[in-house]
Amino acid sequence: MRQYIIAGNWKMNKTNREALEFITELKAIMPATKAQVVVCAPFTALSDLVKATEGSNIAIGAENMSSKDSGAFTGEISPLMLKDLGVKYVILGHSERREIFKETDACINAKVKAAITHGLTPLFCIGETLTQREAGHLVSVLKTQINGGLEGLMADDMKKVVIAYEPVWAIGTGVTATTAQADEAHVVVRNIVSAMFNASVAANVQIQYGGSMNAANAEELLGKENVDGGLIGGASLKAADFVKIIAAAK
Ligand code: 13P
Repeated sequence: MRQYIIAGNWKMNKTNREALEFITELKAIMPATKAQVVVCAPFTALSDLVKATEGSNIAIGAENMSSKDSGAFTGEISPLMLKDLGVKYVILGHSERREIFKETDACINAKVKAAITHGLTPLFCIGETLTQREAGHLVSVLKTQINGGLEGLMADDMKKVVIAYEPVWAIGTGVTATTAQADEAHVVVRNIVSAMFNASVAANVQIQYGGSMNAANAEELLGKENVDGGLIGGASLKAADFVKIIAAAK
């Protein structure tokens, strides 16, 4: 049985003060849930967010990190620094990192390995653009991203990896994948994972859907057999919206 994982991705939003206000409100209205709840926030808010969520069932995640432990990498944040703060999750390979910051599959692969080495759970993001989907390249794009991003991992390592399927055309656009499109793509992901590792890894890996998930469509998306959670951008910025998505994971 796969557990639900509902994670917010705040992107470049919220000052430290705003982050703490959000967590205070979230804790006050948090529904009883069996889902793993994660808030992924800018680096500047992580330390205080970890402290503010101690003893709760809310885990804190980063939105990116370096693959290196330390050294001359001006402006970078290492896995050791995140670990030291009590951060548990890290988003890796988000389409915005791929597109805007030109992160390659090889670079994301190094980060995934570093996260596993240091006991951080990667939320490993993949997804196709509209052009790629319309050209019929969904399977080959996901295959390249998964094979490249997870290269060199052992089947056992996959217990520590969460995959987030985020069709690029659905991110921040208000256009959500239909439940059928989401479920279909998640089956494609499981098949690729099965071929790369084995059927048991594929059956057990948690796959989140991301892309305009919100309070109104979460229940339907999360109701699909192969959808094990959500990676939520815009709708994770207000605690009142985020709790509705958490409540839909049942
Ligand atoms: P939106 O929910 O704002 O579409 O963003 C999705 C996303 O990119 C989460 O990582």
